[in-house]
Amino acid sequence: MTILAPSLLSADFARIGEQIASVEKGGADYLHLDVMDGRFVPNITWGPKIIGDLRKLSPLVFDAHLMIVEPERYVDEFRAAGCDRITFHIEATPHAQRLLVHLRDIGAAAGIAICPQTPVEMLQDVIEACDTVLVMSVNPGFGGQKFIPRALEKVREARALIEHRNPACSIEVDGGVGAENARDLVEAGADALVMGSAVFSAPDPAAELRRIRSLLA
Ligand code: DX5
Ligand code: ZN
Repeated sequence: MTILAPSLLSADFARIGEQIASVEKGGADYLHLDVMDGRFVPNITWGPKIIGDLRKLSPLVFDAHLMIVEPERYVDEFRAAGCDRITFHIEATPHAQRLLVHLRDIGAAAGIAICPQTPVEMLQDVIEACDTVLVMSVNPGFGGQKFIPRALEKVREARALIEHRNPACSIEVDGGVGAENARDLVEAGADALVMGSAVFSAPDPAAELRRIRSLLA
């Protein structure tokens, strides 16, 4: 079954408990947590303290997406804060393979993300160390951007690489995902769909998640 991962970037933090409860009710599998540092991306969100506080609100899998430079400096803190899965950008560190191995050592699922400009071939030499590949379908930094169609082909390319070299690895797609392209992405080989504005800008996030789930059946 496809994993649905609402992104809290588009949630209303003034009523975050209620927003999380609503996606739980709608059948979310992960809570996707976008960490931005104002350097790797031109936006700033939250760090381990906020994630640790959110941890008390929900039993869902915490799926951290680190859009920060030098992610190796912070992964232990994010793990301690309760992140179950930690994905960093290959563009943000010169030692991705080492960091993937370290993530598994500290008990996190190890994920690597690629920006729209980064070819899937960049994953060739690290794919065996990955539990997840995250294909960005917008330039990271903001919610509510338009899906870049080339990402669909990149999901197919990632699927081919994974089938060949590490079939247990999953593919996550993030950016501009919603009811209109969810099915195409799953057919292309995506296992997990990250959705921010599609879910939290809907009048009823739980109903929208259920609707998207039904489109995938
Ligand atoms: C963007 C983040 C996404 C963001 C997606 O850099 O990585 O997770 O929340 O938002 P939407 O689904 O609105 O494109
Ligand atoms: Zn994200």
